[in-house]
Amino acid sequence: MGKFQVLDHPLIQHKLTIIRDKNCGTKVFREVVNEISELMAYEVSRDMPLEDVKVETPIGWTTKKTLSGKKVAIVPILRAGLGMVDGMLELIPAAKVGHIGMYRDEETLKPVEYFVKLPSDISERQIFVVDPMLATGGSAIMAMDALKKRGAKDLRLVCLVAAPQGVKALQEAHPDVDIYTAALDEKLNEDGYIVPGLGDAGDRLFGTK
Ligand code: URA
Repeated sequence: MGKFQVLDHPLIQHKLTIIRDKNCGTKVFREVVNEISELMAYEVSRDMPLEDVKVETPIGWTTKKTLSGKKVAIVPILRAGLGMVDGMLELIPAAKVGHIGMYRDEETLKPVEYFVKLPSDISERQIFVVDPMLATGGSAIMAMDALKKRGAKDLRLVCLVAAPQGVKALQEAHPDVDIYTAALDEKLNEDGYIVPGLGDAGDRLFGTK
């Protein structure tokens, strides 16, 4: 089973409370999602492998550490995932960015893939799929399906708020995928919103309500 981790750094918890507030406007919401994403990038990259490299300082030669592992891809699930990309790129600026677009079919209520554009070497990259809300898990499961279909192997989901149902569904469908969240909330309500959550992350990021 992949790792499941709540990233409960005090700064992340504090900032998450700011954006949960229904009176937090679009500008602050967007800025704080960015800040949380940057802090989460720091936490989710903790186990990146290092190797020795020789470096000449102004004083002399030494052998020190440099990143050795795979290159990174950040893949937002459209549209709310876009809000987490810039914060992650602050810390991992050389990462490539793929995009996955899905819409919910009105009849089946299931997510349907409509746009997938990924770096050509996706199978060799460590992939951080970003989406603020892990609710039913439907979109995350489909995103992982879409990525695996195109050769992706090393997958992690980074979200802000998760519901227990979503975590369970994603773990069952993709037991190899690590899940990182800033909070594990209580449940989903009958409309599919996370309780207490923060409302519709896409609408709050883009001011579309
Ligand atoms: N998507 C959202 O944006 N919010 C939720 O609470 C659930 C799904």
